[in-house]
Amino acid sequence: MLEIDLKKVEKSKINNYDLNNLVFGTIFTDHMFMMEYKDGKWSKPKIIPYGPIEVEPSMCSLHYAQMGFEGLKAFKTVDGKINIFRIDRNFERFMITCERLCVPKIDKEIFIEGIKTLVNLDKNWIPEKKGSALYIRPFMFATEPFLGVRPSKSYLYMVILSPVGPYYKEGFNPIKLTTSGKYTRACEGGLGFTKASANYAISLYPAFEASKRGFTQVLWLDGKEHKYVEEVGTMNFFCVIDDEVITPPTDTGTILPGITRESAITILKDKGIKVSERRITIDEIFSAGKNGRLKEIFGTGTAAVISPVGELEHEGKTIIINNGEIGPIAKMLFDEITGIQYGEKPDKYGWNFYI
Ligand code: COI
Repeated sequence: MLEIDLKKVEKSKINNYDLNNLVFGTIFTDHMFMMEYKDGKWSKPKIIPYGPIEVEPSMCSLHYAQMGFEGLKAFKTVDGKINIFRIDRNFERFMITCERLCVPKIDKEIFIEGIKTLVNLDKNWIPEKKGSALYIRPFMFATEPFLGVRPSKSYLYMVILSPVGPYYKEGFNPIKLTTSGKYTRACEGGLGFTKASANYAISLYPAFEASKRGFTQVLWLDGKEHKYVEEVGTMNFFCVIDDEVITPPTDTGTILPGITRESAITILKDKGIKVSERRITIDEIFSAGKNGRLKEIFGTGTAAVISPVGELEHEGKTIIINNGEIGPIAKMLFDEITGIQYGEKPDKYGWNFYI
């Protein structure tokens, strides 16, 4: 049993918020988990009231971005249980991120028990409305006060919790994507397969430019030829051409191996739907769009769940997908995944972790 020092808030701030009306990632619960790495070892973990932390201006992650994170969700199921979806997969991916960033790893027990204890303590914050959840954000950052490019000697591992609604303002309605011929999210040998914070910083300027032109996000193409579709940055990419569901493979090292992506592939295969993890060019998608073979495009992600794409722009040309409406495969995956998460459907793959 993991020992955690616990300091509770005197009074919960939950009544200051309307949990039926949530904007993604804007409010945080009463407590946070914290553990320090110093002199080659991890300290005893603690849970304390959520609030500001003191750091030095010379803290190296502020300068060189040696930091990464995870994202997972806790749900209140229809029979009143608390379910953290696929927590073990998030732990495994977090350790891959830590390794690539030269950040010390943590024990699986600490990751799981820490989150479990924190979520249990702040369980009143788990919103009950379908489509909302308690977003769990574990993150790790270098804390050594020094200005030099080498791995830090000290770190903080923390977990904060945020009750959330849909990630996009569109909710489950189709979003609009555009490609970028100029900018790149990730290149081979880089950080694309990790949840390094730098992957998100790199996407901000192009996403901001896209949003000024009315697009929800950028659909990233490969960094070498700007030809192959990769991912959206906030979610993985899927398209349906004829009866084949296609998603780019993650073995290029440039795409985040999404856990919702993995769940979607499992469900599709289980239902006997043809699913291919293969490289696909933006030209193939556009020509399928032109000759009526492109049935659907959608994204998958923890925050986004399943997000249908209604419009895609590339080099001044636009295709409208499925008349700008939610397609049957996206709808089926959304129903299956959220059905399991909220305990409405049997957890036949063993993805639910009840606390
Ligand atoms: C997630 O889906 O959990 C992410 O980390 C993506 C981010 C855009 C919220």
